[in-house]
Amino acid sequence: MYNFDELFDRKNTGSLKWDQFKERLKLQYNVEDASDILPMWVADMDFAIPQVVSDAIKERLDHPIFGYSYVSDECKNAIVAWFERRHSWHIDPNTLMFHQGVVPALGTIIETFTKPGDKICISTPVYPAFFSIPKAQDRKVVECDLVLDNHSMKFDFTALEEQFRDGVKVYVLCSPHNPGGVVWTREDLEQLVQLCIQYDVLLISDEIHADIVFDGYKHIPTLTVKDAEKAKIITCIAPTKTFNIAGVHAAIMVVPDKELRAKLNADKLAHGRDDLNVLAAAAVKAAYEKGDDWVDAMIAYVSSNMDVVVEELNKLDGIKVSKPQSTYLIWIDYRGTGFSESEMMHRLLEKGKLAIEPGTKYSEAGRGFLRMNVACPLETVKDGIERFKKALV
Ligand SMILES: Cc1ncc(COP(=O)(O)O)c(C=O)c1O
Repeated sequence: MYNFDELFDRKNTGSLKWDQFKERLKLQYNVEDASDILPMWVADMDFAIPQVVSDAIKERLDHPIFGYSYVSDECKNAIVAWFERRHSWHIDPNTLMFHQGVVPALGTIIETFTKPGDKICISTPVYPAFFSIPKAQDRKVVECDLVLDNHSMKFDFTALEEQFRDGVKVYVLCSPHNPGGVVWTREDLEQLVQLCIQYDVLLISDEIHADIVFDGYKHIPTLTVKDAEKAKIITCIAPTKTFNIAGVHAAIMVVPDKELRAKLNADKLAHGRDDLNVLAAAAVKAAYEKGDDWVDAMIAYVSSNMDVVVEELNKLDGIKVSKPQSTYLIWIDYRGTGFSESEMMHRLLEKGKLAIEPGTKYSEAGRGFLRMNVACPLETVKDGIERFKKALV
């Protein structure tokens, strides 16, 4: 029904992943000619978006006027129904707020609720915006490393509590976790929420990867765990990873606490910010109303890609990988090769002709690891594996 094997030429489409990376490689690694390098880095998919979503955008384009717009109740209901259906999470539509992306939403929340110098705590390695945004706002970033346990990542709650006791204002949670692909358990989330209550820490729960979870695991929305209503929690969700529409720009903040919502509304007014643009609203509504089958099929395809990557990379000397529980990103442990990060990256780019992410992009705690994006046709995945092998020789 859906053809995830189809290869698309994304070059010259204004794609960060396929076009702009060449500039980055030139600057960072002195790569003059990146034309034959395969990009498996930034987190978007090389799959066509669901037809129901492109149809909805086209339908809106068929009307020739694009005046000021607002997010309709139908769109809000589609969001609420999706999270009810897929995550057993009942969201009050009145608690939804919109933003251009989860990253700008993080920026807004941190700016609204903290001052320069305030401590923002994160569990590393983690998605780079979690530290780059607070640093750019002169907040103090407190990194609390996750602990590797049998190749999966775990929270170090003792270390976390020490930091909280020391005056953390905000904790930013990545759930499921990028780059580790961990689906946090209810117990993990409850413990975190209790700590946030105890030390009056605002919890930002970035759940952008919530929809892409593999068999045997279930994403637990932070706002559904015990005592969540007693904590200060803002959850960020989005259809952009799920449906491959990051370039459309859309994110949603779920803000049940009235006071927090009022402050965010005041900030929205102060910056003259609007909700979603008219095409984004059409895409969001269609995706959440009609995208289930596509997402289920996409997850099955990515899961099988993951199996291939795990099997093939684990055959290589010094390389260890485990299948993630969630996300289309795989975290590769190359510490056994003895290569430094710089050597590994040069090997990948020069010998393998493969662009994947170096672990320290996710903080120092990621040293010795690489992140590979496998949301692409199997043929591309196999090509990527061959390139990876060449890089090691
Ligand atoms: C954890 C996490 N948050 C946010 C984003 C990006 O969000 P947006 O494109 O909505 O700004 C990503 C993208 O990879 C991500 O992994």
